[in-house]
Amino acid sequence: TEIDIDAEDLDLGGYPHYMAKEIQEQPESVERIIRGRLDDRFGVARLDGLNLTPRELRGFSRVKILGCGSAYYVGQVGATMIEELARIPADAEAASEFRYRNPIIEADTLYIAVSQSGETIDTAFAVEEIKRKGGRVVGLVNVVGSTIARACDGGVYLHAGPEIAVASTKALTNMAVGFALIALTLGRVRDLSNADGQRIIDAIRALPGQIKSILDFEPEIAEHAKTVAVAKSLFFVGRVRGYPVAREGAQKFKEISYRHAEAYQTSELKHGPLALIDEALPTVAVVPSDELTGRNLAAVQQIKARGGAVLAVTHENVDFGELDVPRIVVPKTEPELDPILLTIPLQLLAYHAALTLGYDIDKPRNLAKSVTVE
Ligand code: G6P
Repeated sequence: TEIDIDAEDLDLGGYPHYMAKEIQEQPESVERIIRGRLDDRFGVARLDGLNLTPRELRGFSRVKILGCGSAYYVGQVGATMIEELARIPADAEAASEFRYRNPIIEADTLYIAVSQSGETIDTAFAVEEIKRKGGRVVGLVNVVGSTIARACDGGVYLHAGPEIAVASTKALTNMAVGFALIALTLGRVRDLSNADGQRIIDAIRALPGQIKSILDFEPEIAEHAKTVAVAKSLFFVGRVRGYPVAREGAQKFKEISYRHAEAYQTSELKHGPLALIDEALPTVAVVPSDELTGRNLAAVQQIKARGGAVLAVTHENVDFGELDVPRIVVPKTEPELDPILLTIPLQLLAYHAALTLGYDIDKPRNLAKSVTVE
């Protein structure tokens, strides 16, 4: 079979690894997913590929998102965006689990399958299960014409361009932006106002420039990576919007740095894992400037009090007071979109940790870019 990729795309273009290249491509790849899809007059997104009329969009009373690995975690980001902007109950589930538990398929649920490759067998079979039971499923897929893209009733292509590194970066970011577009679409046929729609559109439009400004801090993030790479085990913590960010941050560490990294809800630390905290177990804490800042800071303080080192991914205006906490600061966007930007430095953190440790970044052991067998 022929693969439709330009030679230029396969070139490393001066980067030492595809992962480094794909991280740097994100400002452009985000431009591509939003191009032609933002409508300022009505504060809406234009997603004709969904093949859903406004009446059909209004008819859904639930959203279920399915994906595997990082696509599942970004699905959690998407579910939160949909609940916040459209006020429809939404959740994400690992596609691999979903299809084995005789899932209840409802006619008024919108199912969304998320996949970079469009070939992940567990996700493809979940789509088949939904369709077989008469459910409506749309795709958030990167590879045009892939198995999952063809099987879905409609969808939003990610236009991230070819992604070669096993550890996904630019495709994930475009998935999160794609969810913002879907959340906007579902919101604007409901109670999200034109002004709120416009607020989100303006924020989406600013993302490429903001991502670029985070990438400019790569040398500083690389220094932090050298410090955390020493640890045998790490915690990644966040809550609500920040929790899937922590999960994805931990995932990247496991995948390419071969470090045990455990993601936890910051709020749940005190219900068990706090007992593990000591000098040898550092924590990467997602501490955005939002309604939970104070509670997140209190948790950071508890970790510090037990001798645990903390590296915070945070916003400029978050005041750590007396706490001795190194910080990676990302630009503020609208709160609903914060996870998109908070994730970017964690890609660089894992990349530079793996680089420091000398591992094969683009082809980590035991993993495949796309898992097409069970
Ligand atoms: C594999 C990769 C992961 C990826 C997952 C889903 O396990 O190693 O990085 O997140 O598949 O891939 P997909 O192509 O469906 O997004």
